[in-house]
Amino acid sequence: MTPLLKVDDLEIVFTGDTGVFKCIDKVSLTIDPGEILCIVGESGSGKSVTLLSVMGLLSKNGKITGGRIEFDGKDLLSKSEKELDQIRGNTLSMIFQDAMTSLNPVFTIGSQLIETMRVHLNLNKKTAYERAVSLLEKVGFPNPSSFMKKYPHTLSGGMRQRVLIAMSLACNPKLLVADEPTTALDVTIQAQIMELIKRLKREYGMSIILITHDMGLVAEMADRVQVMYAGQIVEEAKVVDLFQKPKHPYTQALLKSIPSIRDDENRELITIEGSVPEQYGDITGCRFANRCPYVVPECNVEQKLLETVSGHFARCWRSLDREEELNG
Ligand SMILES: Nc1ncnc2c1ncn2[C@@H]1O[C@H](COP(=O)(O)OP(=O)(O)OP(=O)(O)O)[C@@H](O)[C@H]1O
Ligand code: SF4
Ligand SMILES: [Mg+2]
Repeated sequence: MTPLLKVDDLEIVFTGDTGVFKCIDKVSLTIDPGEILCIVGESGSGKSVTLLSVMGLLSKNGKITGGRIEFDGKDLLSKSEKELDQIRGNTLSMIFQDAMTSLNPVFTIGSQLIETMRVHLNLNKKTAYERAVSLLEKVGFPNPSSFMKKYPHTLSGGMRQRVLIAMSLACNPKLLVADEPTTALDVTIQAQIMELIKRLKREYGMSIILITHDMGLVAEMADRVQVMYAGQIVEEAKVVDLFQKPKHPYTQALLKSIPSIRDDENRELITIEGSVPEQYGDITGCRFANRCPYVVPECNVEQKLLETVSGHFARCWRSLDREEELNG
């Protein structure tokens, strides 16, 4: 199958007060039509920057210094801003963590939905209005025409996120990128939104990249998973393989930090000691070494993403020789 999105050896640097920081180091990813790929990792691992670059939305001090991004047969890095705008409004859509920052507070929900469709689909006002109402109904508004007249600040966080999802579906995207779309919402609303995303995926047949730091959500949503740490992919596998036989010590630690439903509520959650190193771009050896319980002096050389078994990759040379210990 030809992948819908193919990112090869992406490299991104930021220039700031403290100099040049290599934020993304040879990141590759693919997603097939209809697939849900989850990208997981702690805060600061480079999840958002990677996908913002796919969308052509890197901040001004960021620069792509290497690699290729191919989407739907098009080389995105060779496109002009205008061409990218077209692609973003049609086949490629993104929803963010905080719906309020993506909605314009001075316009009603209805006018924003209609405007999006008039610009990108060239619809007349009446058709755009009807489509907007039907989209709001699809994402779970019981009385959609009355919601068309509401302003974003009058809606709850969960409702605003639904509006954003409706907006992202307005042009039938082939790929929806969702960056922590439910982190700001309470658990019940989070479950409803995830159910909605899954249902819409089935109905529209689109692919989804879900960025999260929540392994519970990964288990529920993903077909395939990529684990990011300090600007690199450190593990990649089908969701079942990743949960049953994690190869990289970082993934193992992430899995141990999932709260279990059977946990005594007073029990302290296991967290991974330490944090993602800040200037990780300059580290030559394994970037997880300062937190890894299995570190040995030989880890202090560049780690490659190795295929351990078919379709299962890990950036840890010891994942090959310590399989039993790592999974024990
Ligand atoms: N505009 C920027 N200028 C400089 N550094 C940046 C910029 N945006 C991100 N970074 C740095 O790049 C690294 C990766 O950031 P990114 O936002 O991709 O992390 P993340 O994995 O999405 O984290 P989170 O889970 O907190 O959203 C971090 O060290 C961050 O400080
Ligand atoms: S290379 Fe060494 S330090 Fe890095 S994850 Fe593997 S065992 Fe740990
Ligand atoms: Mg982020």
